[in-house]
Amino acid sequence: MGETGGAAAEPTLFETVGGETFFVALVDAFYEGVGHDPVLRPLYPEADLTGARHRLATFLMHYWGGPPTYLEERGHPRLRLRHMPFHVGPAERDRWLTHMAAAVERVAPTADLAARLMAYFVPAAEHLRNDTGLPIATARPGQSTVTAQRSQPTASSTGSSTGSSTGSSPGPADPLS
Ligand code: HEM
Repeated sequence: MGETGGAAAEPTLFETVGGETFFVALVDAFYEGVGHDPVLRPLYPEADLTGARHRLATFLMHYWGGPPTYLEERGHPRLRLRHMPFHVGPAERDRWLTHMAAAVERVAPTADLAARLMAYFVPAAEHLRNDTGLPIATARPGQSTVTAQRSQPTASSTGSSTGSSTGSSPGPADPLS
């Protein structure tokens, strides 16, 4: 805390929320929802989701300024690439975001922190879609994407979305790529 000599360094979100305990609680709440989701649950290979919990928690901690455990264990996140084995369309994106929004609502200490977290999750989940036929994605030629009407999912709290997702992301330049 505050060991920087320069102009007032803002604390990272990791510090602001209280560190690891917060992220473990967030991810636990999220996977509680996923565990009962008939669309998402089958996509997760593990019986108990322990590994998935650990991977998401360590990724998020690092993304928001915490220790680089994810990088050490998994290397560069390359999240788009790592999601290619799973079909991520509008339905999957929305269900993922619904569970995450519920988890954020449950554990975020303030509305402002909840909004900051969701301002990252909403565009990130959209970016991980791989059903759009874009070159990088696993194009599904037989499937029309016309049904993907809205560009924004319905998850709330995007009110303060400024475009710069974290403002203090010390993580890899683009963890999604
Ligand atoms: C903001 C959006 C998202 C983030 C930050 C995120 C993050 C992650 C991370 C860090 C992993 C572990 C990668 C690894 O090291 O192997 C992962 C795995 C996975 N994600 Fe996502 N994800 C997001 C959205 C989604 C969506 C929309 C789906 C819907 C299908 C999804 C489904 C999965 C599945 C099935 C896995 C494999 C579980 C595992 O780790 O073994 N994710 N995700």
